[in-house]
Amino acid sequence: MTQRLTIRRPDDWHVHLRDGAMLAAVAGFTARQFGRAIVMPNLTPPVTTAAAAARYRTRILAALDEGTAFTPLMTCYLTDRSDAADIAAGHADGVFTACKLYPAHATTNSAYGVTDILALTKVLETLQRIGMPLLIHGEVTDRSIDIFDREAVFVERVLTPLTREFPALKIVLEHITTAEAAAFVAEADHPIGATITPQHLMINRNAIFDGGLRPHAYCLPVLKREAHRLAVRRAAVSGSPRFFLGTDSAPHVVGAKESGCGCAGIFNAPFALEAYARVFDEEGALDRFEGFAAEHGARFYGLPLNEGIVTLERDPAVVPDRIGEGDTAVVPFLAGESTGWRFVG
Ligand code: DOR
Ligand code: ZN
Repeated sequence: MTQRLTIRRPDDWHVHLRDGAMLAAVAGFTARQFGRAIVMPNLTPPVTTAAAAARYRTRILAALDEGTAFTPLMTCYLTDRSDAADIAAGHADGVFTACKLYPAHATTNSAYGVTDILALTKVLETLQRIGMPLLIHGEVTDRSIDIFDREAVFVERVLTPLTREFPALKIVLEHITTAEAAAFVAEADHPIGATITPQHLMINRNAIFDGGLRPHAYCLPVLKREAHRLAVRRAAVSGSPRFFLGTDSAPHVVGAKESGCGCAGIFNAPFALEAYARVFDEEGALDRFEGFAAEHGARFYGLPLNEGIVTLERDPAVVPDRIGEGDTAVVPFLAGESTGWRFVG
């Protein structure tokens, strides 16, 4: 049995680094494992302009130890009033890597999100023309649609017409959770990819109700039933270049999770690579791990592969119950469990 696993330094194509004290507490976990990360713009207020993104990037770099080799890739939060010219200029200047589309009210800090995606014609035409990826939180927000169906309905009602209207628009369907999304991405005659989180590979919706209500297993899109988890797992280990690593690590202070109305988000950054390694190991697919973690995403984005390497070692170490204290105390994904791996460096 392989005891050590060495791969090209990977990237995280979807992460929430937050701001202020939480940024200072969590950024190092992502920078330790990954060469680059696509940083989500759902701050309060959201990052909607190139100037705000440039300032946020400076704050991220300032939160890291001197000499840390990590590149935050910034995203623009789309609203009904997004300015196509500012987005294009921000992209040309190397500030923006991609745009993020949150349907209004789909998730944390999405109140300013887009109310009618197909009405964003000017922005979408611009993205298509300049080859800038559109990253999508793929859930409808119609309250009459069951929460467990919102992704599949989005694929049918929104994503399918979007790909028809904008045939050359680069799209990443973020944090996929369903067989429908996995099949659409695998088969579409379109430049489309998808990120996959550790939690959607490792646990199903039973985890939210396991002996009681489990707020730390609550994220959006919400975990789905087992058949969907298995479909998403097959996609991840399939070797298809359309599927790549995106943790969606989303820290919330303990009190905001353990609450009468707990926030959505799972903080998986401290042991992200270990969690993915466990999945690929269980599937007998460790030979495909490097592609998923370190190659497919970069190629999709048209960026060079990282130069360095990282090593993981088999190890029974247990994930701590809590990380940080006070305003930044967060319960990590898999608290109290072992991933079976340890990130060596
Ligand atoms: O669970 C989630 N948490 N899903 C999202 O889409 C947003 C994220 C957050 O920012 O907390
Ligand atoms: Zn996210």
